[in-house]
Amino acid sequence: MAQQVFNILILRLVVSLFINVTAVSVEPKVNVADRLQELNEIQEDLKMKLKQLETMMDSEVGKLKEKVEFLETKVQEQDNLFKKCQVKNSDAIGSLRNAEENNLKRMVLDPKTCLEARTANPSLESGMYFIDPDGQGRGDDPIYVYCNMTTGSTSILHDSEDSIAVSHCFEPGCYTRGIKYNATLRQMTMLSELSNVCHQSIQVDCYDAAFEFNGIPYAWWNDRNGDPRYFWSGMNNNSSGRYHTCQCGLDGSCKDKSLSCNCDSDLAIELSDIGILLEKDFLPVTKLNFGRTIAPTSINRHTLGRFECNGKVVLNGMPTSCQDLWRIGYTLSGIYSIKGSSNKVETVYCDFTKLPGDEELQTWIGYVDVKSEPVYFTVARKTLFSNLNTAISFDQETLNTGNGLNTSTGVFSAPRNGTYFFAFSSFAENQYSSFSVYLQLNDATIATCITSYALFYCNIPSTLKLSTGDRVQVSLQQGTTNNAIFTGWLLAEDIIQ
Ligand SMILES: *[C@@H]1O[C@H](CO)[C@@H](O)[C@H](O)[C@H]1NC(C)=O
Ligand SMILES: *[C@@H]1O[C@H](CO)[C@@H](O)[C@H](O)[C@H]1NC(C)=O
Ligand SMILES: *[C@@H]1O[C@H](CO)[C@@H](O)[C@H](O)[C@H]1NC(C)=O
Ligand SMILES: *[C@@H]1O[C@H](CO)[C@@H](O)[C@H](O)[C@H]1NC(C)=O
Ligand SMILES: *[C@@H]1O[C@H](CO)[C@@H](O)[C@H](O)[C@H]1NC(C)=O
Ligand SMILES: *[C@@H]1O[C@H](CO)[C@@H](O)[C@H](O)[C@H]1NC(C)=O
Repeated sequence: MAQQVFNILILRLVVSLFINVTAVSVEPKVNVADRLQELNEIQEDLKMKLKQLETMMDSEVGKLKEKVEFLETKVQEQDNLFKKCQVKNSDAIGSLRNAEENNLKRMVLDPKTCLEARTANPSLESGMYFIDPDGQGRGDDPIYVYCNMTTGSTSILHDSEDSIAVSHCFEPGCYTRGIKYNATLRQMTMLSELSNVCHQSIQVDCYDAAFEFNGIPYAWWNDRNGDPRYFWSGMNNNSSGRYHTCQCGLDGSCKDKSLSCNCDSDLAIELSDIGILLEKDFLPVTKLNFGRTIAPTSINRHTLGRFECNGKVVLNGMPTSCQDLWRIGYTLSGIYSIKGSSNKVETVYCDFTKLPGDEELQTWIGYVDVKSEPVYFTVARKTLFSNLNTAISFDQETLNTGNGLNTSTGVFSAPRNGTYFFAFSSFAENQYSSFSVYLQLNDATIATCITSYALFYCNIPSTLKLSTGDRVQVSLQQGTTNNAIFTGWLLAEDIIQ
């Protein structure tokens, strides 16, 4: 009985389970299998897709990797390039800076004169400096000179600054010593051009060795052009002949008052001549020549000072040449106006790549037609004029500029120095009347004109050189006139007095 109950219970349970199962799925057995099949298929499909995706991803990643590597190398290359560029740039900047510094240094180091250096930097100490009198970057190389920064003077050193004994010989100039300067002659000439004063001291100690004896010169020095000079101090203020003197000759203090140098004496006593050569255009001394030292007891010793220049060149008035312009500091080649000869302004081309002494420095172009004020007039007379020996006045004024002609008096008064042109013209009232006129400069008659039956026109053209205030007029000498034309103008003005 109990077994039955149990069985029934089991059955119920199974049935209820079954019912439950049927309640859950409508077509339970077939549907589940199908579904599984379906799911499997989906799974397979997904797996395949995943595989595909993976391979795709793999290839994409590979490509990306390649790209990244490529980019990395690119970046590396760019980086290298950039670094190189930086190095180059800094090199360039460095060399630019160096160039600038060098330029600055050169500007400081190579002024034209010591004075220029001192003007640029007043704190500079005296000593050896490089200067370039003929200008930076052209002509000769800079020279190494002594600058006295107290005075601003420039000194050129040479090989004969010590006291040097002259060898024994007899003939005039048998002893010769060429002076070797530590600068080219051109640089020294340019230094002299730029300076206000140049000088060189010279001392000769002598004993029985005359400079000059019985009118024969045994000793001289050569100037920068190589010409012999016989004065041992001062300027060459006697251009006539062979100028011979020493400082004692200039002072009248020579031992032998009849001579102009102590060393002109043939006496066996120790003598000296000490002088300072001041002739800027002759300096420096290029050679020293002595003679008449043949006697074993004869002594001549020379001591030549440095070639020293100081001051800035001072022009006497307006520049008259490219050389003047160069001296006062012009360096830009071009067309310039200068004070010409004949009181006119002239135009020249200055080529400042050339140096003074070079013909091509200056090319003459022509006169400049400068008028400080224009002066011209044209006037006429249409009414009767009969006052004899009186300036003909005018009643019509076509032009009158520059304060020259006073129409009411008929007198022209030159407003400026210069050259003027005038023309006066008139004709007789009729065939039977005659008249004469004359052109006057101040109170002098310059030209006259008389009409006649044959010639009843009067023309007086004239070109006159006038000074300020000079009067020009046309006066009636005889007869009458009732017509006249007077014209005149300033042709060329004397700009430079
Ligand atoms: C001469 O000048 C040169 C440069 O031009 C310089 O190097 C040299 O030291 C100078 N000599 C003397 C003795 O000053
Ligand atoms: C500079 O020149 C002056 C005048 O000639 C002189 O007295 C002075 O001793 C010089 N100074 C130097 C440093 O050469
Ligand atoms: C010669 O030159 C000196 C300067 O060295 C000057 O004092 C003198 O007056 C001049 N003499 C003549 C005659 O010109
Ligand atoms: C110039 O020199 C000549 C010859 O030496 C001489 O006769 C004349 O007196 C000198 N003149 C002057 C101004 O020194
Ligand atoms: C012309 O001359 C007269 C007489 O000298 C004078 O009175 C007059 O002012 C002058 N005219 C001019 C424009 O200068
Ligand atoms: C004009 O020329 C005379 C002599 O020709 C001269 O004395 C005068 O100074 C010059 N200048 C002026 C502005 O008149």
